[in-house]
Amino acid sequence: MNILFLGDVVARSGREAVVRDLPALQREYGADFTIVNGENAAHGKGITKKIYKQLMAAGADVITLGNHAFSKREILDDINDCPAMIRPANMEPLHAGSSCVIKECHGKRIAVINILGMAFMNATAHPIPVMEELMKGLEADIIIVDLHGEATSEKILFARYFSGKVTAVIGTHTHVQTADETIINGCAFITDTGMCGPYDSVLGRDTGEVLSRLLDDMPTYYKPASGRVVICGCLIEVDDETNRAVRITRIQKRPE
Ligand code: FE2
Repeated sequence: MNILFLGDVVARSGREAVVRDLPALQREYGADFTIVNGENAAHGKGITKKIYKQLMAAGADVITLGNHAFSKREILDDINDCPAMIRPANMEPLHAGSSCVIKECHGKRIAVINILGMAFMNATAHPIPVMEELMKGLEADIIIVDLHGEATSEKILFARYFSGKVTAVIGTHTHVQTADETIINGCAFITDTGMCGPYDSVLGRDTGEVLSRLLDDMPTYYKPASGRVVICGCLIEVDDETNRAVRITRIQKRPE
């Protein structure tokens, strides 16, 4: 089983690139199942039902979110119409949507879980006990966690703690892909899988705007960059006999 995971889709240019390129990526990597983090898909912060549908129509099987899950407030009303989209388990408002989805693929039950790290995230609880709670009674062959967090150490600790119990822990949020992909006791791990968004930018945001925010201390409206796009993610290869991860491959498609 090959599971393709694409990192944070940022704004219009990232969204359009993923919608355009996802089928070709799935062919290139022989993907059986695709997870896309869409938490920055709507103008850099949040997601809408319309964008959820675009990403699903492009070939995503599950959409994960993060600290900006509800930045577009309309999604609070719409999230129940998006059954393959999950929001972090340890984030307010706790009542909206689900944090775990189970889908069947080639006879396997694949559970995808979304959790926030603690550092700079306003999480309601630590990710480790939250994950333990989510795993109680969870009936799945393959478990993939999108751990959306800032701190590298937190994500590494989480993966080491749950290795042997889950199939993959994929870090998201920083938008900067790390080069530490590894298999820990049958668990595929990368601290951050990177973003799908504007390449000539500051984490997807317009460079000039970030500069004036920092140097002039001027209030700014979040302005995503446009233009050339980088697509980042990873491929997780899972052994069909054991359901353990055997390989993780970084994907980074930079513009020419
Ligand atoms: Fe984030």
